[in-house]
Amino acid sequence: MIERLPTPWGLVRLGVAPDHPNLKTVSRAFERIALRPGFRFFGNVEVGRDVTQDDLSRLYDAVVYAVGAQTDRRLGIPGEDLRGSWAATELVAWYNGHPDFQELEFDLSVERAVVVGNGNVALDVARMLALTREELAPTDTTDAAIEAIAESGIREIVVLGRRGPVQAAWTSTELQEMGELAGADLVVDPAELELDAVSETELAAASNIVQRNFELLRGFAEREPTGKPRVVRLRFRVSPVALLGEEDVEAVELVHNTLEPDGAGSVRAVATDERETTPAGIVFRSVGYHGVPLSGVPFDPKRGTIPNAGGRVLDAHGEPIPGLYAAGWIKRGPTGVIGTNKKDATETVDRLLEDARAGRLPARAGDATFDEVLAERGIEAVMYAGWESIDVRERGRGEPHGRPRIKLCTWDELLGAARG
Ligand SMILES: Cc1cc2nc3c(=O)[nH]c(=O)nc-3n(C[C@H](O)[C@H](O)[C@H](O)COP(=O)(O)OP(=O)(O)OC[C@H]3O[C@@H](n4cnc5c(N)ncnc54)[C@H](O)[C@@H]3O)c2cc1C
Ligand SMILES: NC(=O)c1ccc[n+]([C@@H]2O[C@H](COP(=O)([O-])OP(=O)(O)OC[C@H]3O[C@@H](n4cnc5c(N)ncnc54)[C@H](OP(=O)(O)O)[C@@H]3O)[C@@H](O)[C@H]2O)c1
Repeated sequence: MIERLPTPWGLVRLGVAPDHPNLKTVSRAFERIALRPGFRFFGNVEVGRDVTQDDLSRLYDAVVYAVGAQTDRRLGIPGEDLRGSWAATELVAWYNGHPDFQELEFDLSVERAVVVGNGNVALDVARMLALTREELAPTDTTDAAIEAIAESGIREIVVLGRRGPVQAAWTSTELQEMGELAGADLVVDPAELELDAVSETELAAASNIVQRNFELLRGFAEREPTGKPRVVRLRFRVSPVALLGEEDVEAVELVHNTLEPDGAGSVRAVATDERETTPAGIVFRSVGYHGVPLSGVPFDPKRGTIPNAGGRVLDAHGEPIPGLYAAGWIKRGPTGVIGTNKKDATETVDRLLEDARAGRLPARAGDATFDEVLAERGIEAVMYAGWESIDVRERGRGEPHGRPRIKLCTWDELLGAARG
C-alpha cells in the first residue's frame, strides 16, 4: 500500500467527522489486514511525484489505484474567490488534522455561515460548526479547531438545497442528529416542505431513508426554537447565484428554484425570477468531490474517474490495460459510504485474481525492489512500524484527556514520530 501521507486510512482518518468515532473503528479491520504477511505500507510516498505508474508496472504484477477524489467541485458563480468562500473539503481536512491544511485561517467570528449542498458532507460541516466545547472535547478534532469552533461568533448556519426535501442526499441517522444538538436549534420552514406533484410521486416510491428523512423534516418544521445559542436552518429550492462583497464574502445572492421533471423519475432545479440576499460572512460549498488525474493512468476529466470495467482500467479504445485496476471513489465517483467501497473493492480484486489465474498479468521488467527504487531516490518512506509509532504517540496524548487520540498534524511532527 503506497500512500502520500505518513498515515494510512484515507478519509476514515481525515474525512469522517471526529464526533462520529464509531465510524472510524473500521480502521481495526484495516489493522488486521496490515498485520498479515505479504502486506507492506509505504507512507510518505506520492505516486506521480516520487514514483510513477511506469515504475510501478516495472516493479509489480498489478497496480490498483484507490486514490479517492482529491479535490472539490466548484459552483462556478461570481464571487467564489472572495475571502471567506471555502470548499467544505478544506474545513473538513482542517478540523481532522490533515497536515496540508493546518495553515488555513477560517474567520469564524462572523455571525452567519452558509453551507451549499444537501449531502452528508454538508451536514457534517453544519454540525461541526454548531458543536459546543463539551461536545467537541471528547473527540479527536484538532485543538485549534475545537478552540475556534467553541469560541466562534457564528449564530446561524444555513444549509442550502437546490432541489427539495425529497431529493436531499442525506442519510436519516445524520439528519436526525441535527435535531439533537446541545447548542443549536434546528429550523425548517414548513412552506419549503410543500411538494410538487413529481416529488409527491417520488416520495411515495422512495427508499425508507428518503421517507424517514421527510418524516423527520416534518417533525423539525413543527418545532419552536428553544433559545439555544445557535440555529441551523435547512433551506430548500434555493441556489446561490453570486457571493457578494468587496474582498470578503458579505452576503449570498440566492435564486428560488422551481422543480421540473428530469425525464428520469426525479426533478431538476430550474431558476425562477425570485431572488433574495442573505447576509453571510463565510460560505462552504459542499457540492461534491472530484478525482484528479495521475500521469500515465487513463482519466475521464468529466466524471473525475479512471475509466474502468468492473475495476479493470480501460485504455482510450475501451480495452483493459493488463495489470492496471481501480477501486473506490476514483473508480466510480465520489459517492458512497465506507461499506460501499468494500463491495466495490471486492469486485476489483475478483477481476485481478481472474486475470492472474488466466495468465493475463504482464511480466515484470527487471528485478529491482520498490525499497531499492525509493532508496536510490532518497525517499524516506514511513513503513507500518512508523505509522504504529505515530499511532501510539497520538493515543498516548489523548488518553489522559479521555480522547481517542490527539493527532499530530504537521509533516514535521508526523515524520518525527514515525522515525521514533
Ligand atoms: C467529509 C467526509 C465524511 C465522510 N464521512 C463518512 C462517514 O461518516 N461514514 C461513511 O461510511 N462514509 C463517510 N464518507 C465516505 C467515505 O469516506 C468514502 O466512501 C471513502 O473514504 C472513499 O474511499 P477511497 O479509498 O476511494 O478514498 P480515500 O478515503 O480518499 O483514500 C484515498 C487515499 O489515497 C491517497 N492518495 C491520493 N493520491 C495519492 C497519490 N498520488 N499517491 C499516493 N497516495 C495518494 C490519499 O492521501 C488517501 O489516503 C465521508 C466522506 C467525506 C468526504
Ligand atoms: N455520515 C456518513 O455516512 C457520511 C458523511 C459524509 C459523507 N458521506 C458520503 O460521502 C459521499 C459524498 O458526500 P457529499 O455530501 O460530498 O456528496 P453528495 O451526497 O453527492 O451530495 C452533494 C450535494 O451537492 C448538491 N449539489 C451539487 N451541485 C450543486 C450545485 N451546483 N449547487 C447546489 N447544490 C449542488 C447535490 O444536489 P443535487 O442532488 O441536486 O445534485 C447534493 O445535494 C456521499 O455518498 C455521502 O453519503 C457519508
